[in-house]
Formats: sequence, C-alpha cells, structure tokens
Amino acid sequence: PRFAALIPAAGSGSRLGFGIPKALVDLQGKTLLERAIENLAPLVDEVVVALPEGQSIESPVKQIVGGNTRQDSVFRLLQATEADFVLIHDAARPFLGAKVLERIKGRVIQSGAVTAALPATDTLVHSSGGFWGYLVDRSKTWAVQTPQAFRRTLILDAHLKALQEGFEATDDAGLANKYGSNVELVLGDSRLFKVTTPADFELATAFAQLWDQ
Ligand code: CTP
Ligand code: MG
Repeated sequence: PRFAALIPAAGSGSRLGFGIPKALVDLQGKTLLERAIENLAPLVDEVVVALPEGQSIESPVKQIVGGNTRQDSVFRLLQATEADFVLIHDAARPFLGAKVLERIKGRVIQSGAVTAALPATDTLVHSSGGFWGYLVDRSKTWAVQTPQAFRRTLILDAHLKALQEGFEATDDAGLANKYGSNVELVLGDSRLFKVTTPADFELATAFAQLWDQ
C-alpha cells in the first residue's frame, strides 16, 4: 500500500508569539517544518505540507495552501493525495522518532484509524472556575498526540460529514471517532510534545542538541 505523510503547517503560532508562522521558526538550525519532513520522508511514499497563504519552502515536497483552521488545512491535504493510507503529523511536533512511526504504520493497515497517545502521568482534575472540581480516573486517561494515521477514504469521509454538520474537532482521531470509527491508541513518546508556548520552545531548544547528536 502507498503511504502519504500530510503535515498541517499553516498555523500562525499566535501562542508562541514570534511574529512568523510557527512551522517556519528556526530550532537549532532547522525549522520545525524541516524537522517534521526529515523525520517522515524516509518512511512514506509522498509528503504533502499545508502552508500559510503566500508562504513556500525550498523543498521537493508537495506544497499546498492551508485553511483557516487545522481541520480545514487537513481537509485540503486529504484532497492533495491519492495514497491508500495517510499519516497526519503536526509540524509543531519536531521530535518524531522512527520507533513511533513504525508502530503507527504497523497498526494502521489492520485498524484503519490509529493515533499516537501517552498514558497520563499527572494527577488529572476536572475544574470549574479555576477550582478543583472532581478527580478524573487517570488509569483510563491518555494524552493524544500525532502522528495519527488512517485509511484515506475513512478519514476523508469523516471530514466530509464534519463539514456538512459544522462539527469541529482539534484533531483527526476525534473526527474519525465522532463518525463511528474505532481509533486504536498506539504508544507515543513524551519527546513528541507539541511546541505551543515560549516555555515549550525553551524545552525544545535544549532538547534539540541531544536529538541532533
Ligand atoms: N495548523 C494548520 N492550519 C491552521 C492552524 C493550525 O495547518 N489554520 C497546524 C499548525 O501549523 C500546527 C498544527 O496545526 O502544525 C497544530 O496547531 P497549533 O499547535 O495550534 O499551531 P498554531 O495554530 O500555529 O498555533 P496557535 O494556535 O498558537 O496560533
Ligand atoms: Mg492553533
């Protein structure tokens, strides 16, 4: 089967606040997007990236214009490939190792829908108004990451239904599940954290030196 890596990279990075699109921010000599491409390219047949309007990168990968939301960017990416399976991975997660990718690829052919996820390790609490509401059973809770992988037609159908109903989700596994797919959780990695805030960027800067050596 053919695999495509789809990289939503069209966000503005408002919480990071560097004044340029987050995917194009330099992290120790390579942009977040370059890092994502470099990790994915060896394991797929094709890479497609969604960029903010008016942006392009120097790379042989296919580039398209993203949308106003992550969901819209992924929907456009899905229309730019005919691969049997798609691996959707945020440009904002620069430390994607081959082991996680192999686990994801290894399960998606059978499952049809999988996501990297980590069992929660912090105590989890549902809050109301800034106060402790009630404890959430941590033993049943996972933090969802990317990559997320799907049979292309499965996730395309979910996107089409979501578009029809105006349903919005923060990720594609959430969309797939909303429209009836069983989504298998595959062990992710704490190094797959998403660079969202300046504090995350500080961590990423320090860790990049280890990652790159
Ligand atoms: N993304 C996208 N298109 C959008 C919004 C987000 O392709 N319209 C991508 C981002 O580029 C990122 C991933 O989705 O790789 C996860 O989004 P997030 O971490 O929220 O990035 P930004 O939207 O750029 O950040 P912020 O929400 O702080 O502005
Ligand atoms: Mg965002």
